[in-house]
Amino acid sequence: MDLQEFTELKLFITGPTYIRPEVRRAGALPEFGHRDAENVKRFQPIHEGLRALARIDDSYDVLIFNGSGSTAMEASIRSLVADDETVLNVSVGAFGDLYHKMAVANGKKAVQLRFDWGEAIDLDRLREALEQHRPAVATFTQNETSTGVTNDIEAVCALIREYGAMPLVDGVSIFGGADVRIPESGCAYYSTSTQKSLGLPAGFGLAFVRPEAFEKAAKVANRGHSTDILTQQGRARKFQTVTTPNTTLANQFAVQMAYIVNEEGVENRFKRHEALRDRVHAWVADQDGFELFAPEGYRSPTLTAVKAPKGITADDLKKRLKESLRGRGYLYDPGYAKANDAFKETGRPAVFRIGHMGDVTMDMMEAYLETLSEELKKL
Ligand SMILES: Cc1ncc(COP(=O)(O)O)c(C=O)c1O
Repeated sequence: MDLQEFTELKLFITGPTYIRPEVRRAGALPEFGHRDAENVKRFQPIHEGLRALARIDDSYDVLIFNGSGSTAMEASIRSLVADDETVLNVSVGAFGDLYHKMAVANGKKAVQLRFDWGEAIDLDRLREALEQHRPAVATFTQNETSTGVTNDIEAVCALIREYGAMPLVDGVSIFGGADVRIPESGCAYYSTSTQKSLGLPAGFGLAFVRPEAFEKAAKVANRGHSTDILTQQGRARKFQTVTTPNTTLANQFAVQMAYIVNEEGVENRFKRHEALRDRVHAWVADQDGFELFAPEGYRSPTLTAVKAPKGITADDLKKRLKESLRGRGYLYDPGYAKANDAFKETGRPAVFRIGHMGDVTMDMMEAYLETLSEELKKL
């Protein structure tokens, strides 16, 4: 096999993301047995690092699933929605739709409240849906990766609680890049994954879970095996995983958590993400005819969706620009295909995205934006 064909590209997509050299090297640390004393040396610091990033105390359990963000989300559906209950899936884009798809695919009584691409959750419309459907459980996306919209987790959870429902949050593309306000929101279950703002390869789904969710799960039938949060809790409390973990990733994860907590610092990590977002917003303001897609007050700290001027089509973004940037060593994000298809049908401008999550530095971002400006001018 010719390894030269594995091209080194700098990833500015919305996950997976750039991996620091130290994390790459940690992939070469020794393999270990997951029921052996070596296991806890990796997973205890991982759990502690996740707690520091989530700012949670013992009132939440940390669960680590083999799989990805979807695995953690699907486990919440299987463990927390009983057959005779309704789950309301609130969606502001492709990943809100995904939570709904999971609920339907698992045979749950699921209803969806869908907002248009680029909108945030409107609390009046959410209230109407809660009045109408009286769900036992409600799901929503904190950071919608397809549009760069961040919902107000505290306000949405509070409203869901007002109607006696249990809030489940998808925080896959924001966790590790901002103070996501898990304890303040009081969400019952929060899902995330490794390959976005944590700056790691994909391979684990992560969840932060309150006691009320475990109490509820005990009354829900057919939770599956690896999707059963009670089985997961038993292993997690011993810093183990239910099924055999990817030990390469576990080594990288432990090294990365130590770096985030002890070297970069949690607060500094969040500030760096804010600075990257502000830099990208300033860049957009400098580009003639380009605009931010997400509404003010709801713009993501980890990715920015950008409306292109009328003359630039989704095809230009997907084919010409993507390939010209590849030629310059970058993997660029031409926008969420389904969203751009919908915009094309309704005559709306095409949208592309800039990922600014994980371990991207300001210098890397400056170099990328300069290259992007040059290539955009050639379109
Ligand atoms: C907001 C959001 N939710 C869920 C997912 C699915 O996560 P995974 O690919 O880790 O299963 C993604 C992936 O991009 C996402 O961005």
